[in-house]
Amino acid sequence: LDNGLMRTPPMGWLAWERFRCDIDCEDDPQNCISEVLFRDMADRLAEDGWRELGYVYVNIDDCWSSKERDAQGRLQADPKSRFPGGIAKLARYVHDRGLKLGIYGDLGTYTCGGYPGTTLDKIEIDAQTFAEWGVDMLKLDGCYSNSTEQEQGYPLMTKALNATGRPIGYSCSWPAYQGGLPPKVNYTLLGEICNLWRNYGDIQDSWDSVLDIVDWFTEHQDILQPAAGPGRWNDPDMLIIGDYGLSMDQSRSQMALWAIMAAPLFMSNDLRTLNSGARAVLQNKVAIAINQDPLGIQGRRLIKEKSGVDVFWRPLSGGSSALVFFSRRTDMPYRYQTSLKALNYTAGTYKMYDVFLEKPMPVLKDATEFVVSINPTGVVMWYVYPSTKWQEEGEEHNADS
Ligand code: GLA
Repeated sequence: LDNGLMRTPPMGWLAWERFRCDIDCEDDPQNCISEVLFRDMADRLAEDGWRELGYVYVNIDDCWSSKERDAQGRLQADPKSRFPGGIAKLARYVHDRGLKLGIYGDLGTYTCGGYPGTTLDKIEIDAQTFAEWGVDMLKLDGCYSNSTEQEQGYPLMTKALNATGRPIGYSCSWPAYQGGLPPKVNYTLLGEICNLWRNYGDIQDSWDSVLDIVDWFTEHQDILQPAAGPGRWNDPDMLIIGDYGLSMDQSRSQMALWAIMAAPLFMSNDLRTLNSGARAVLQNKVAIAINQDPLGIQGRRLIKEKSGVDVFWRPLSGGSSALVFFSRRTDMPYRYQTSLKALNYTAGTYKMYDVFLEKPMPVLKDATEFVVSINPTGVVMWYVYPSTKWQEEGEEHNADS
């Protein structure tokens, strides 16, 4: 969607995967869906170095609203102990910290969690309400609507958001409700009306779930890859790094593959208690730079080896690129042998930076065979510089020192 927003994949935090529909603020005040949770996460994003890295969205998901609309027919936040200050006040709190606020709605009779939905006749009033509150992004889910209503409603919401005059990023769950593939899903149209879209099922806190998502996106990469670009992104769902389901290697794998896929980076974790390992993966500057590359070309799988190694590649600006060597094996670190030439690199000499070792690597000629050792369910990720760019940067470094 050409609304000037999300020219690189949006980054931030989203409540759903980790905090779900916990509305029990009496017994679980720190974790229930309430203004406390979103203020806490805004504080962490602002104070723990996330905002400077680009993680600026604080996004509310389902179960924020009251069970009923107000007397004027507007959506309203649950006032009893959960959002006594209302959403507008929360938006000010978030904005005061240099962050943006996202909210959740559902095109249909009810949200997936059973809260009031946005039926076709409510689209304009809900867009207006969100804009008045100072909301910066809307995730519009698709439970309790049929394909005809979705076909009408998703583009109507684009118009209604635009008509408010407030820049509001627009995330559409539409394709996920239509199987994610043509002919039912029209990716050209989605690129025109949405900034991002959920293509596939919900992520859960497990490696199985991450792998299932990666496999679906890879299997259909010829359809999905061309759909993405500045202002329009495929969304394989939230990052679950820092939760309970992933090992350190699997955490690096999710980060690497989401970077290759030019995926939105919405963490769904508890930033108040995040361990240092997860933090290091999520705050890896080169992985983020790869994800946020200004060209906005989604990467793809180049090779699927019988050994269980997949090689992914993403072209980046300035003639650079990213490579991910991913192992599905579950035995031991696998020594994968290949050459840059075998991966379509033909410009002579390259310099690599190992993204997770955070170390530059020796110069490599395209024809030279090399071996990478890939941990089980892990990755090796390289940022690859062409030799010309590397020489320019080398000169800059010399001038600095
Ligand atoms: C659907 C969405 C999820 C989440 C829940 C909320 O399942 O796909 O991301 O928003 O609804 O109920």
